[in-house]
Amino acid sequence: MNVIVVGSGIAGLTAALHAHEGGHRVTLVTKGALGDGCTGYAQGGVAGIYGPGDSAAQHASDTLDAGAGLSDAAAVAVLVQEGADRIAELIARGVAFDRGADGELLLGREAAHSHARIVHAGGDATGAVISRALVSAVRATTIAVHERAFLVDLVVTDGAARGIRILAGGEVSELHADAVILATGGAGQLYAHTTNPLGATGDGIAAALRAGAAVADLEFVQFHPTILAAGPAFLISEAVRGEGATLIDDEGRRFTFDSHPDGELAPRDVVSRAIARQAAAQGSPVRLDATMLGAERLRRRFPTIDRVTRERGFDWAAEPIPVTPAEHYLMGGVVTDLDGRTSIPGVFAVGEVARTGVHGANRLASNSLLEGAVFGARAAAALGSPALPYEFVSPPSRFRDRNSYRSGAPAVRFGRDALQRLMWDEVGLLRTSEGLARAAETIRGWRAAASAPATLAEHEDANLLLLAEATASAALARTGSVGAHYLEPATEPVLETV
Ligand code: SIN
Repeated sequence: MNVIVVGSGIAGLTAALHAHEGGHRVTLVTKGALGDGCTGYAQGGVAGIYGPGDSAAQHASDTLDAGAGLSDAAAVAVLVQEGADRIAELIARGVAFDRGADGELLLGREAAHSHARIVHAGGDATGAVISRALVSAVRATTIAVHERAFLVDLVVTDGAARGIRILAGGEVSELHADAVILATGGAGQLYAHTTNPLGATGDGIAAALRAGAAVADLEFVQFHPTILAAGPAFLISEAVRGEGATLIDDEGRRFTFDSHPDGELAPRDVVSRAIARQAAAQGSPVRLDATMLGAERLRRRFPTIDRVTRERGFDWAAEPIPVTPAEHYLMGGVVTDLDGRTSIPGVFAVGEVARTGVHGANRLASNSLLEGAVFGARAAAALGSPALPYEFVSPPSRFRDRNSYRSGAPAVRFGRDALQRLMWDEVGLLRTSEGLARAAETIRGWRAAASAPATLAEHEDANLLLLAEATASAALARTGSVGAHYLEPATEPVLETV
């Protein structure tokens, strides 16, 4: 069959390769150049290789714990059972994961993992190494590649996918297909501070919403705890804490134990909130102390972080560095079954755009590249095969219609910066129901006043506004704190549990 894959991170590249190898005619459409996107920025690695004393069952248990009770156990079982095969496949496609002198894969540890089970490449350049290998693999095939082609909308006729509408070179056109696999990534550009690249504007989720696909869990937005608090957002991998680095306040005290018995290795949402609260209390960023790891080990294990921190004037082997949370990952997205099928026949979603149920309310570190590879392959294998019964819930009609654009008079003038600040302030790490209501109202006003988009930037803004409204609405609807959705209570628990 004719298959369009939209997006060229690990999920899209894996889906495209598997679909091609399965005998389908594949067209890969991507907004930037092939391999642009979030995958190339991933530092930590891919969880899923089990050393002595570890097992797929323990990985599943850690994933379910991090997800705060809202993960889908069947999806988690698929993830951990098929992960090792996908890692082997990456190796076969040329990904040189780091190995010790004995030739064995080196296994790193990150927060909320009970064991070291994360393979990495180039030290802290895992995503870039994977991306290069998969892009080369795609280039070596007859897969048709359309770069700099922006997904405007899904084309859905008689309830089934017929292709996509794209904007490329200033022109809108249609590409026809029997199936569309969305692999467009997340929506970090909703927020003023994010680890995501500029292209992360939620285009696939927005297109799916407009087409009437079921979308869920948008309120679960992950904030990575440790972004260098100097200059443009730059991630300091959780693997640094996994190696033993600590988080300290302005008196040098390890404050994260006040929030959770696992301290720096508590789930990401807990550590991020502890950092935000401590920074607010002391009026300055908290610091990550990696000095105990020594200059040689830091340079060898984390070459990218070592270079960038030094470029920004820090010698992290000699002094603790300032860190702060930033938006990192969207747990929610287009609802899928275990094979990436969405509620629209012929439309699949894989990777961050999808809500497979793996992550629940909070994603476990280094499960995202794994999820992209596992479910990218599964979606390709399921092309053309009938779906098992699966219950999907349609989104409200106000999210569906581009024709709902009409003139209005918003209280505050829309601009992408203003939206990002509003989302950061009111729909961020620490939320209040009043703030969420304020944000939802402002965003609704902006959306109502927007003109129909024409340029790429206008399409991205429209997508961000649609997702912002859906995210604020989802957050308002969830009245209790769970995982990454945290409502400031009147009296706050001192010790957080998962
Ligand atoms: C990190 O290296 O800390 C990020 C890994 C991830 O988001 O899974």
